Formats: sequence, C-alpha cells, structure tokens
Amino acid sequence: MRPPSPSSLLLISLLCLFIFHGATSSNLIQETCKTCSKDNPNIKYNFCTTSLQAAPASQCAGHHGLGMISIRLVRNNVTDTQCHVKQLLKNKKLDPYVRGCLEDCLDLYSDAIPSVKQAMEHFNSQRYTDANTQISSVMDAATTCEDGFREKKGMVSPLTKRNKNTFELSAMVLSIMHMLQSVSN
Ligand SMILES: *[C@@H]1O[C@H](CO)[C@@H](O)[C@H](O)[C@H]1NC(C)=O
Repeated sequence: MRPPSPSSLLLISLLCLFIFHGATSSNLIQETCKTCSKDNPNIKYNFCTTSLQAAPASQCAGHHGLGMISIRLVRNNVTDTQCHVKQLLKNKKLDPYVRGCLEDCLDLYSDAIPSVKQAMEHFNSQRYTDANTQISSVMDAATTCEDGFREKKGMVSPLTKRNKNTFELSAMVLSIMHMLQSVSN
C-alpha cells in the first residue's frame, strides 16, 4: 500500500479537527443541561438538550449565548401559545367554564410577551436579577393558567403541555443565569 499523500493527511486532520470541535461545543449544551437538571428537578436533562440543540447556532454558543437562546425559546413558546389560545376561543361551542379559563390564560400569556422582551434586554445588559424577576413572572403565568382549569373537578386543561414547556424553558433560563452569575462573581 502506498503511504498516504500529504494532502490526504491534511484532509484527515482537518476532518478530526471539525469532529473534535463539534464534540466540544455540543458538550457545553450537555454540561449546561446536566447542571440545570441538578439545580432544578423540574428541568429534565433530555428536554433541555433537545430544546437547545434544535435552536439555530446553539452548537457554537457559549454560556451567555445559550442563555439568550433559551430566552428566545421562551418567547417563541409564549407567542405561539397566545396565538393558540386565540384560536381555541373562536370555538362557539366552548364550555363556559373552559372559556373563562382560556380568557384568563389569554390575558396571562399576553402580559407574558412584554415580560420576556424585557427579560431579554436585562439579560443582554447582564442585569440578571431584573431578568430573573421577569422570567419568574412568566413561570407564574404558566402556572396560574394551568391552575385555573384544575380548580374545577373533572376539567382537563387543553394547555397542559404548553404550560409545562413554558415553565420548563423558563426554569432553564433561571438556571443558566444562575450559572452566569456564579461565573462572573
Ligand atoms: C416550545 O418549546 C418546546 C420545547 O423546547 C418545543 O418543542 C416547541 O417547538 C416550542 N414551540 C415553539 C412554538 O417554539
């Protein structure tokens, strides 16, 4: 067998570099999610990695970048849920109790949108305490929305999965900010 040519050696080492680089950067997602799930039992490791990995450019992101990505995930989820609730409310045959709950949820999610936007601004300026307050209010909104349905026996919330997603993504934001604070202090 001929010895490998210099150019093929170069190609192989470049390839290794790419693979290695890919591995180290996705390790940050895994590392972050490991810490998040230890930090808060509401955050499931697989939910965390799947959510972050699906986001554009997350493989290249550092800690701060992952924080921003997770806030964006919250924003997308909140905006999408607000829209979904509006659609549900168009149904004329809704049970009056469910309608009442959905109207409350619409208010809660509508208020949550400016909260997430403010959280983004605070986060970008590294005002983590202020960002924390805003994101916590989003978590409260998701919880209050879900609790509304639970108050009446036999009611099934049509928003359980969405409320859970918003809650869990927000918890990830809080946990990542917690990490950022302990790194910078
Ligand atoms: C909301 O978050 C979940 C979990 O990351 C994700 O699967 C879903 O696609 C998100 N929805 C939107 C509209 O971004």
